[in-house]
Amino acid sequence: MPSDSFPTVRLVGVGAALPDPCLHNDDLSQLVETSDEWIWPRTGIRERRILPPQLSLVDLATQAARQALAQAQVHPQELDLILLATSTSADRFGSAPQVQAALGATQAVAFDLTAACTGFVFAVATATQFLQTGLYRRALVVAADVLSRTVDWTDRTTCVLFGDGAGAVVLEREAAGLSPLDKPQGILGIELRSDGSGSELLTLSMETEARPLVGSLRVGQYRCRPITMNGREVYKFAVQAVPEIIEKSLFRAGIPAEAVQGYFVHQANQRILDAVAKRLGVDPARMASVLEHYGNTSGASVPIALADWVEKGRFGPGDLGVMVGFGAGLTWGAIVFRWGKS
Ligand code: ACO
Repeated sequence: MPSDSFPTVRLVGVGAALPDPCLHNDDLSQLVETSDEWIWPRTGIRERRILPPQLSLVDLATQAARQALAQAQVHPQELDLILLATSTSADRFGSAPQVQAALGATQAVAFDLTAACTGFVFAVATATQFLQTGLYRRALVVAADVLSRTVDWTDRTTCVLFGDGAGAVVLEREAAGLSPLDKPQGILGIELRSDGSGSELLTLSMETEARPLVGSLRVGQYRCRPITMNGREVYKFAVQAVPEIIEKSLFRAGIPAEAVQGYFVHQANQRILDAVAKRLGVDPARMASVLEHYGNTSGASVPIALADWVEKGRFGPGDLGVMVGFGAGLTWGAIVFRWGKS
């Protein structure tokens, strides 16, 4: 159960941004030896969105952020904190301040956080701490990735899986003096994990090339490598780690699995979502799925799935949800929450 000594932190708005250009499985078969017949049954993906070269990760992140702020009815200048969860920033010094500037969120401190497909969950957990301690009142968490810019388009084992997208949520600490409600509100339970011994299973790394600099001094120079993945091992890890962390986070929150209206699990593969539902004994209809149209959008996939359900009215104020990220690092984590201002 959440500690009585911490104030309530609510999720009060969600938004998503997906580029228009769409790449269907049939289009991919013109690039690599693959087919819709191979991709669809193994992944649940039919198409994915690709960010046009003239647009940036910051453009996509800002679009999702504006939607979340509008839904939350929060003005950018009311924000104290902006976290950008991304693994594909064009500027490795960080892009969150550019999102802050684009929004005109002049009062907010902004920084990046990287944890691959778990980045959004880790960022929501981080923002929650800033709000619970009383340091800040309102935070924006944006997850954005443009994996189309990092995949090897000749590698059929990875290029068929990923798409571009961004998602965002607004978090708010409850104002002092609000009358107590009968049910626990907002963020109710957080469980986070890392296991670096599995780091080789998924990489988006830099190679160091040695070259002579001056005299006998040699220097290392980075060169970007495309995504690599051991699909089978990642699959095995996911179907074991995800149900386990959902159960632990629900236990911590004191919520039974059957009380949860929506599971927003990282959208990597429909077979993973089905296996998780089966292991938990949860109705598969409660597992949000947007994979068919967007593919794996890395850290953005959880808020994109949440935005989809909120927009369609499948998930509303007062509903209980679990957000789950998993992926490279290895990292994984779950957050139990009651949505909105019920
Ligand atoms: N089209 C056609 N054939 C293909 C393709 C393709 N796109 N990709 C692989 N194959 C071939 C392989 O070469 C192999 O052929 P071979 O038997 O002649 O060697 C055969 O299909 C089987 O390959 P596997 O890799 O064993 O296929 P598998 O059934 O495991 O499915 C998949 C691959 C879909 C990637 C699966 O392993 C998976 O979903 N794993 C989890 C991946 C995941 O979750 N990744 C993201 C998590 S973290 C993050 O989001 C960054």
